Amino acid sequence: MTGLNLFQGKSVVVTGGASGIGLACARAFSREGASVALWDIQEEAGKAAVREICSQGGTAEFFLCDMTEEAQIGEAASRTCRAFGRMDVLVGNAGIAERKTMLEDMDMNDFRRVINVNLTGVVMSNKYAVKYMMQNPGPVRGSVVNVASILGMVGAPMSTAYPAAKAAVINFTRAQAVTYGPLGIRFNSISPGYVNTPLLKNLPEELIHSRVALHPMGRFAEPAEIAEAVLFLAGPSASFITGSNLAADGGYTAQ
Ligand code: NAI
Repeated sequence: MTGLNLFQGKSVVVTGGASGIGLACARAFSREGASVALWDIQEEAGKAAVREICSQGGTAEFFLCDMTEEAQIGEAASRTCRAFGRMDVLVGNAGIAERKTMLEDMDMNDFRRVINVNLTGVVMSNKYAVKYMMQNPGPVRGSVVNVASILGMVGAPMSTAYPAAKAAVINFTRAQAVTYGPLGIRFNSISPGYVNTPLLKNLPEELIHSRVALHPMGRFAEPAEIAEAVLFLAGPSASFITGSNLAADGGYTAQ
C-alpha cells in the first residue's frame, strides 16, 4: 500500500516493534515516510522486520533493548537520535501477557514482572522520549502513544497485574498530557480489544469463542487495524488531541 507521506522526515520509535501490533505500527509508519527505530528483546525477529522495511525502500533500524532496564532504554534513545538525528514519535507498545490466577494464588514475582514491563517500561521509555523531543524546536515538539488495553478500562476474571498496569498506563499518559501540553508534546493512549498476535498464543482454544463474543463486531482485531489508530493519534490529524484514551475494541467497552 502506498502512503500519503504523513510522517515524511519524522523519526519514530516503536517499542516491542519486532512482533504483533508493534510490527504493524513500524510497517505503517514506514509506509508514511518515517524513519523507524524498533526497540525489542527479540533480535532475530527485529532484524528481519528491519530487512523487510528496508527492502521496500523504507528506513529502519533495530536496537536491542529490554524495557525493564533503564540504562538500555537510555542507550537505545541516544543511538536512535544519532541514527535519525531526532525523535518525533514514541509508540510505547512493548508488553507481555500475564498468567491468569486467583488473587490468593498469585506469585508476586509474576506480578512484579508484568508491572516492570507493562508499566515501568512504558514510563521509562516515555522519560527518554521526552528528553529528546524537548530538543526539537517548538511549538509542536512530538507525540507519544502508549498502548494500554480494554483490560485497563474494565475488569476481567483471573486478572491481576495486567489490568493494574494498563489502567496505570492510561492515567500516567493523561498526567503527562497535562504537564507537556504547554510544551508541545502530545500524549495519548490506545486501548485495543483482543488482537490476533502472538500475545494470545496461550489463550486456550475454548476461551477464544467466548472472548470473540465479547466484541460486538464478532471478531478480534488484526494488528494493522490497531496500527492505523496509532498513526492517527501520533500524527497531524490528531493535532488537538492529547490526554485521550482511544478504545479500538470492536465495541467491547461500549456495552
Ligand atoms: P506481541 O507478543 O506480538 O508483541 C510484543 C512485543 O513486545 C514482542 O516483540 C516482545 O518481544 C516485546 N517485548 C516483550 N517484553 C519486552 C521487554 N522487556 N523489552 C522489550 N521488548 C519486549 O504482543 P502484541 O499483542 O503485539 O502486544 C503489544 C501491546 O499491545 C502490548 O502492550 C499488549 O499488552 C497490548 N495489547 C495486546 C492485545 C492483544 O490482544 N494482542 C490487546 C490489548 C493490548
